[in-house]
Amino acid sequence: MMDVALVDLKKDFPILARPIHGHRLVYLDSAATTQKPQVVIDAEVDFYSQHNANVLRSVHTLAEEATTLFQNARQTVARFVGASRPEEIVFTRGTTESLNLVARGFADKFLKPGDEIVVSPMEHHSNLIPWQQAARRTGANLRFIELDPVGQITLEAARAVIGDKTRIVALSHVSNVLGTVNPIPEIAEMAHAAGAIVVVDGAQSVPHQPINVAQLGADFLAFSGHKMCGPTGIGVLWGRYPLLEESDPVMYGGEMISFVDRETATWADVPEKFEGGTPNIAGAVGLAAAVRYLDDVGMERIHRHTTNLGEQAFDRLHAMSGVSVYGPQRPHSGVLAFNVDQVHPHDVAQVFDSLGVAIRAGHHCAQPLMQWLGVGSTARASFYLYNSDQDIDVLVHAIEETKRYFRR
Ligand SMILES: Cc1ncc(COP(=O)(O)O)c(C=O)c1O
Repeated sequence: MMDVALVDLKKDFPILARPIHGHRLVYLDSAATTQKPQVVIDAEVDFYSQHNANVLRSVHTLAEEATTLFQNARQTVARFVGASRPEEIVFTRGTTESLNLVARGFADKFLKPGDEIVVSPMEHHSNLIPWQQAARRTGANLRFIELDPVGQITLEAARAVIGDKTRIVALSHVSNVLGTVNPIPEIAEMAHAAGAIVVVDGAQSVPHQPINVAQLGADFLAFSGHKMCGPTGIGVLWGRYPLLEESDPVMYGGEMISFVDRETATWADVPEKFEGGTPNIAGAVGLAAAVRYLDDVGMERIHRHTTNLGEQAFDRLHAMSGVSVYGPQRPHSGVLAFNVDQVHPHDVAQVFDSLGVAIRAGHHCAQPLMQWLGVGSTARASFYLYNSDQDIDVLVHAIEETKRYFRR
């Protein structure tokens, strides 16, 4: 059964009170982006109305307040993921930028022809294309850990690919399509034994479960603020400090330098050397508010709640005729991809919308996974802390309505 106390959280999210086409909004698209609680909206408004100034440069009162808020946000995020120091948190625009930063700043510098980058077919394009491009630039080769029949990465399959040529293992922690939870700590141990570093795409895990980077075994972890109740345009690259120190900056300009003359420049320390230009200060402040909100609810509770909803929904849809659900039955995160026989996922999403239910339809930025599944696209329902058992009833009802509509 659902954690009853979490139902009350809907009232923290003003947008969830908005009717859609005369229906209660049932928001099942949190894997794309989550809704924002009032405390996050208020934190951004308060920043712009009371403290707005640029950071790390001027000495006036507003500039000092803004700098303090910005650096406090870094500390809040560092504590949230168990970083050993705040400087290990690099603010970026999101997961995509974070992963590109590692590919450019670390992989380009250290990969040699014949080295191997290991990924999987379930990766979001953000954790695939940067490695394809790094491989092209450096002469390294891309290798894939094949999935088992339900879309999981087994340790045997990982062992078959990770070897003495492996330099980088880059995997999603939780699939944004299959809902699969990957065994990152075990794979990290394997990768480290082979002398490789581990890059984790945490876009779908950091928002949903307690994360401690040391226990995860990652060397780099990328995630996005907007998928964890925070604002858009702010995200994080966490990296082990020595690896960040060794990495090259990729964005050159203001505030990332130590000294500049006409011909040359030297870099500021980590993390500023990766944060060229004016950062998204209000976004960082909003992200810190989101982290405090999630912490207040409790990451263990959120994890139990969304996993429970994902698994319940899997069972309900699995039992329906004319519906295919993808990914493993257990464990299954709060992301559920499905198809309704003979109905295009975009049509499914359209009928859902007419009933006030927001889902996503498409390839979910994971075309190689669609090829593996043998489908062009899927519908996807994804749950978060503000969803309830009732929302699953609405999901099931919306599928029945879709079937009825297209049978006519
Ligand atoms: C697993 C995964 N990785 C990466 C991303 C990219 O995140 P962003 O668009 O915030 O950079 C997403 C977003 O859907 C995702 O689900």
